[in-house]
Amino acid sequence: MAPGTYRAVMCEKISPSATEGIEAAVVREVPCKAELGDQEVRISARAASLNFPELLMMQNKYQYKPKLPFVLCTEGAGIVVETGRKVSGLSVGDKVFYATMAGCAAEELVLPAQMCIKMPEPLSFSQAASFHMGYMTGYHGLVTRGRLRAGEWLLVTGAGGGMGSMAVELGKAVGAKVIAAASSDDKLEMCKKLGADYVVNYSKQKLKDAVGEITKGEFCDVIYDPVGGEIFDQCVRCVTPKGYARLLVVGFASGTIPKFGINMALIKGFDLVGVRSGAQLGLALTQQGGLQR
Ligand SMILES: NC(=O)c1ccc[n+]([C@@H]2O[C@H](COP(=O)([O-])OP(=O)(O)OC[C@H]3O[C@@H](n4cnc5c(N)ncnc54)[C@H](OP(=O)(O)O)[C@@H]3O)[C@@H](O)[C@H]2O)c1
Repeated sequence: MAPGTYRAVMCEKISPSATEGIEAAVVREVPCKAELGDQEVRISARAASLNFPELLMMQNKYQYKPKLPFVLCTEGAGIVVETGRKVSGLSVGDKVFYATMAGCAAEELVLPAQMCIKMPEPLSFSQAASFHMGYMTGYHGLVTRGRLRAGEWLLVTGAGGGMGSMAVELGKAVGAKVIAAASSDDKLEMCKKLGADYVVNYSKQKLKDAVGEITKGEFCDVIYDPVGGEIFDQCVRCVTPKGYARLLVVGFASGTIPKFGINMALIKGFDLVGVRSGAQLGLALTQQGGLQR
């Protein structure tokens, strides 16, 4: 590798499909930023986390569309190796983790210091690098947008995936009665270890029947759905008819954006709530001066 460069995993062209998506990523040498801004830190990266949105970005299907070529990954962790003149609160040698709109799959990053959080001692680099996306989306969805309260019935679909598994943990932390739903018993075993009170395998059982049985006909106060498609249609049937439920639209991992008969929202009196944690992060990044490559 030439001196003054680092390696980064880049997307240089839009991929036609998800299966061809990640294979189209290439490793390139990128020149290091010579001088830091006053408030910036240089980080020697140790881990980056790959999430579903990376696949969508590579197909130009994500709501945030970085200009080509771009460095993949929206979160990571590493060690501060240099600080700008006016940086306070961070020193060379500190372990930090961070979230960006793109750019974390690189050996080196230069970021505004206030985008970096010191790593708590028990976390490994890979744990810290995968913290933001799932927990931030889970917290924003369940607490800020979903107004989840202790004692409420929470249904999480795709509960064995990244977004779903962290929503299971956070739902338990809030004190909700958590029903984890997924398509395989292996995933559901993991959900039980994360604290799910009940599990439903929706490849074997109709979600509505199982949820009706578990809740003794009450159905759910809050539903967190990162899957979309046919699973979303089933979720509509799992909403409590009491007149205050929240159905959280988190994602469409199934690849299908469902069509929704809005009469159901009227009949059951529920809120259909869009969850977009990235918008909050984007705003924060704009205010902090954005990502430097
Ligand atoms: N709203 C936000 O702010 C936000 C933030 C981050 C991510 N997201 C979105 O949330 C969704 C899930 O992300 P994730 O990180 O949890 O993904 P993931 O780890 O891949 O999990 C997705 C789950 O969806 C289910 N699924 C059903 N059909 C699928 C298919 N055709 N391909 C892949 N998975 C399928 C699978 O569970 P079963 O097989 O058990 O059904 C899988 O475990 C994505 O659409 C992502 O873009 C939204």
